[in-house]
Amino acid sequence: MNEHLSQRIFPTTQLEDADGDGHNTSANPTMGEIIGKRFSRRSFLQGSLAVSAIAATVSPIALMSADEARAADNKGSAFNFSEVEAGVDDKHHIAEGYDADILLRWGDAVLPGAPQFDPAKQTADAQSKQFGYNNDYVGFIPLEGSSEHGLLVVNHEYTNPHLMFPGLVQVVDGKIKQGALSKEQVDVEMAAHGGTIVEIRKTGGKWQVVADGKYNRRITANTPMEITGPAAGNDRLKTSADVTGTRAIGTINNCAGGVTPWGTYIMAEENFHGYFSGALPEGHKEAPNYKRYGVPEGAYEWANFYDRFDLSKEPNEPNRFGWIVEVDVMDPTSAPKKRTALGRTKHEGAESIVAKNGKVVFYLGDDERFDYVYKFVTSAAFNPNDRAANMNLLDSGTLHVAKFNEDGTMQWLPLVFGQGPLTAENGFTSQADVLIECRRAGDALGATKMDRPEDVQPNSVNGKVYVMLTNNTRRKADQVDAANPRAENAFGHIIEISENDGDFTATSGKWEVLLKCGDPSVAAVGATFSTETTKNGWFGMPDNCAVDAAGRLWVSTDGNNNKATGRTDGLWAVDTEGAARATSKLFFRVPVGAEMCGPLFTPDDETAFVAVQHPADGGEDWRGHGRPSYYEDLSTRWPDFKPDMPVRPAVVAITKIGGGKIAV
Ligand code: FEO
Ligand code: CA
Ligand code: CA
Ligand code: CA
Repeated sequence: MNEHLSQRIFPTTQLEDADGDGHNTSANPTMGEIIGKRFSRRSFLQGSLAVSAIAATVSPIALMSADEARAADNKGSAFNFSEVEAGVDDKHHIAEGYDADILLRWGDAVLPGAPQFDPAKQTADAQSKQFGYNNDYVGFIPLEGSSEHGLLVVNHEYTNPHLMFPGLVQVVDGKIKQGALSKEQVDVEMAAHGGTIVEIRKTGGKWQVVADGKYNRRITANTPMEITGPAAGNDRLKTSADVTGTRAIGTINNCAGGVTPWGTYIMAEENFHGYFSGALPEGHKEAPNYKRYGVPEGAYEWANFYDRFDLSKEPNEPNRFGWIVEVDVMDPTSAPKKRTALGRTKHEGAESIVAKNGKVVFYLGDDERFDYVYKFVTSAAFNPNDRAANMNLLDSGTLHVAKFNEDGTMQWLPLVFGQGPLTAENGFTSQADVLIECRRAGDALGATKMDRPEDVQPNSVNGKVYVMLTNNTRRKADQVDAANPRAENAFGHIIEISENDGDFTATSGKWEVLLKCGDPSVAAVGATFSTETTKNGWFGMPDNCAVDAAGRLWVSTDGNNNKATGRTDGLWAVDTEGAARATSKLFFRVPVGAEMCGPLFTPDDETAFVAVQHPADGGEDWRGHGRPSYYEDLSTRWPDFKPDMPVRPAVVAITKIGGGKIAV
């Protein structure tokens, strides 16, 4: 979600934290003087990054020349396609020679008996059987090892009432004023959250939903779930509806996620604070905890109808969100499990890899300004021959938080109760406390405050790990450090980690900045795309990413818009190897107002699934609209373009015309 809740129209006044200011008030060092040292030694003098740095000062004319040069010779890029022209309009655009087909739109049937989508007659019952809103993470779980038949798993991160419901908005002084939601509308919102599991099949080169797929399922903000792992049953998770502290209701704000090596679906709970309202009772012991997480933000009106979202009535409910949720997709009746061993943060996602010793390593970003990067290492090894043996792997293991040093080394610090400062002296009385207040545990260990960590993706082909850091305009000059080297970092950057000895379970490693993002023709931005990158190829605000079967990196973005960059968000192919390192090319771009989520490649690299999230959320800055965008006056009616049909977030399947692997 762009700048998390800032794109949601707040029901009352704009709230103080609406733009996602950080909640990390710890005194962890920021190493203000380090930038010069680090960048003179590592970035400017080392191989391809020396070339990259030059791009920061080249003129647009030089970039045009690079454009022409690229047409004649790929200069060692691992990607072969003609890039899309960057820009803004109401449609999506895909590289020439590829199809981008709409696979699933908000409101499309997922379960048998789902009524046809009727935006004028939305009900919670209908929505709970239909594809939800604001698709974000996309995963593919092959059935019988096929790249052409499997389960698509999709998160539905949040809702945009001003785009979803007719008659809700007035424009006052050129600004959208949203009316109060009815209980029925809140119920639709709750059913539009969560996730979708749906069987899909490719026939004749085209993907289709299997309408009566036996695994098809909707998960919502009301789906019963179990709480498992070290914090399960802790007093801090108990509520009047669940005196055991082991049974949660629903999942919310599922941003990115993952698919485990044993074929379960991971849904990461991100900005959960927005759903809570009300005040804790005076002097309540959870007050410091909630302050660190920005709870409550009151962006949603759910507390008007459901007491569990009102802190004055259910003070512990926020402790039951912010977890990693695991879903057994092969049993549609199974209760999803909130795996507390992976900690409670504003989880972007949880991408995983099997290490040499068979243990499974999950990489996790906590998406808020000045928050941390984590990894979880399972205690037991993955058993590739017995799926059932892996089903509780996520309940025991060691969570670590990242400390990036100025010399290009790093440590993964264990978040283990009783070790170092994680003791009663600092308010941690058990491992449950460490996990529930994961952020405060990271503060105590001196973790490095990052520029909003989003997707963190291991690459099994080259052994590296890529960290998307989307932006942090609040970082001041005296707060820059080696791993977050730009003050007022508007465009974000990407860090590449090499774990020691190529061992993903290692507790130390090395890192360097792969890419500082933004327009390389504006020297002040300090972007470090290679000089081969064209005027279409650069991007800002990296968010999600994927590594395809060939080990190539694809980055999707959140926050490029007409005003900031003259371009929409999209999917970029980013070289990481050899002379082409830090070269980027635009493959797909989204319609106005949207953010690009997903992306995901099938194991045969012949399909890329991408999720177009919150299209039409904005349009004031685009001359094709130039005014607020809302249900009755949308900046785009993508993807149907029918006057009686609102804009609909949708998953798109990208394939090469005539078949074959993408971008080879
Ligand atoms: Fe939901 Fe971190 O983006
Ligand atoms: Ca984002
Ligand atoms: Ca995201
Ligand atoms: Ca990813």
